[in-house]
This record gives sequence, structure tokens and C-alpha cells, in this order.
Amino acid sequence: MGETLAMAPDLLKGNQMVASVFEVMDRKTEVLGDVGEELMTVEGTIELRGVQFSYPSRPEVLIFKDFNLRVRSGKSMALVGQSGSGKSSVISLILRFYDPTAVRVMIDGKDIKKLKIKSLRRHIGLVQQEPTLFATSIYENILYGKEGASESEVIEATKLANAHTFVSSLPEGYSTKVGERGVQLSGGQRQRVAIARAILKNPEILLLDEATSALDVESERVVQQALDRLMKNRTTIVVAHRLSTIKNADQISVLHDGKIIEQGTHSSLIENKNGAYYKLINIQQ
Ligand SMILES: Nc1ncnc2c1ncn2[C@@H]1O[C@H](COP(=O)(O)OP(=O)(O)O)[C@@H](O)[C@H]1O
Ligand SMILES: [Mg+2]
Repeated sequence: MGETLAMAPDLLKGNQMVASVFEVMDRKTEVLGDVGEELMTVEGTIELRGVQFSYPSRPEVLIFKDFNLRVRSGKSMALVGQSGSGKSSVISLILRFYDPTAVRVMIDGKDIKKLKIKSLRRHIGLVQQEPTLFATSIYENILYGKEGASESEVIEATKLANAHTFVSSLPEGYSTKVGERGVQLSGGQRQRVAIARAILKNPEILLLDEATSALDVESERVVQQALDRLMKNRTTIVVAHRLSTIKNADQISVLHDGKIIEQGTHSSLIENKNGAYYKLINIQQ
């Protein structure tokens, strides 16, 4: 009895903590996506038309007023612009992390609000600056891209991601635990594990948000090579800082304050010496 009583304060604290965990778990998302059309085959045309958007936490700040963007199937679009101009927000909207208040985001002409979220996301690969890795083995982390993939598929994807060599050289190989958020791996290694996952998933649409910005020059080179392979023949939206990545995109959109102020290819945009793109590139160099 005495010992149990001594634990009473801890029990009380534990109880309160668990309550707050359940509060989070019970939260209902505003984005409804269990019902709707199943998205089967995808060509990959992305279109944002007349999008108006503000974050739920700051409803008074309009991020996009009347935003329009079109990426043709199999082509790449680079988004460039100062930090805070809305590049990542575009990516969040395509993945339906949020719903815009006005008009819509479409894939192959279908309003993504009318699709099941799971089936939408099955066709989209995302590689971010800080990839999402789980505290399990490298193998499991890559397998997450495609449920039920075979071992040879996983290894093939890892090779294409320029990751097989480093993974095999680890004492425990593919069974190596990556640690919480992948802390056991270097930045470039984490990124290549995330790319292997995306290759295995084989999505029609690829979203890259500053995927190489946090890397040193040497790992950037191998990661970029893996990304180039991944981008081939897929509709890609790439948020990038490095000129080498931006230059190769089929189209470039320059964002400023949630608006596209310039659009075109690298060679056409660079001709306008007073243009925003020209200035942006010059600052970089
Ligand atoms: N989760 C969020 N909640 C509220 N405001 C946000 C959130 N994420 C971004 N913003 C705001 O949206 C604007 C665009 O941000 P973002 O799309 O992240 O720009 P970029 O990726 O170009 O740096 C900024 O003003 C930023 O402060
Ligand atoms: Mg961003």
C-alpha cells in the first residue's frame, strides 16, 4: 500500500499526459478523403486554377489569391523564388495536406477533392529536404514505398538511387537500423534512402522540395544523379536553389508573394536582364 501511494503523483501525471495524447489521436482532420473516386491510371497533368489559400492557423493571411499553374504530363517545372514566396505551399496543396478555399487543384483534369486521398497519394512521390525516415531498418524504410515489393525490387531501386554501395558496406547491410529520424545516417545517405523509396513506388508524379539543399557538393552530385534518373518521364515539380537543377527543368516559374511573376525556360528567362529570374540567378552566382 505504502509503495503504491508513493507512486500516486506519477500516476496522476501519467494520466494527464495520456489524455493529451488521446486528444491528438482523436482529432478529426478537416481534409476529408475516405470517400470519393478511386484514381486508377494517371497521365500526370497537374493544374492549379484560381486557387485561393490561407493556412488554418492564420486565416487572415492569404498565401494565394488567384494562383494558376499548369504542368504537362511527363514534364518538369521548377519553382524558384525567395523563402516564403509559397513554393512549399504549392506542394502541400497538390498532396492535399490542406484544401484551398476557392476553386481547385486538378490531376488529369480531375478535381483532387473528389478523389480518395490514399489513391491520390499512391501516384505521388515526395522527396523533401529532410526526408521522413522511420526508426527501423534501411530495408523497411525503402519497402515503405511499395507494399509487398520483393527483395530484388528493393535492391534494384536502391541501386538506381546510388545507395546500394553504401548500404552493402555497412556491417549490417540492409538490416542496419537508421535510428530516430535516420540520425545514424549522413544527410546524403538519408536522402538516397528516401529516393530509393520513391523509385520503388514508381509514381507518375514527383514532388521535390529542396531535396539537395542540405547536402555538401560531393553528396549533392550523387543524389542529383539519382534524382535525374527518377525524374525521367514523370511529371515533376521541383523546388530548387541550385542553378544546375533549375536549368534543366522544362519550365521555370518564379514566385513572389504567392504569385507567379515570370515563367519560361532558362534560356528565355535569362535574356531579360531586368527580370526577377535574372536577378535571382545573379545573386546566387
Ligand atoms: N504551416 C503553416 N502555417 C501558417 N503559415 C505558413 C505555414 N507554412 C508556411 N506558411 C506561410 O506561408 C508563406 C509561404 O510559405 P512557403 O510555402 O513555406 O514558402 P517557401 O517554400 O517558398 O519558402 C509564408 O508566409 C509562410 O510564413
Ligand atoms: Mg519551402
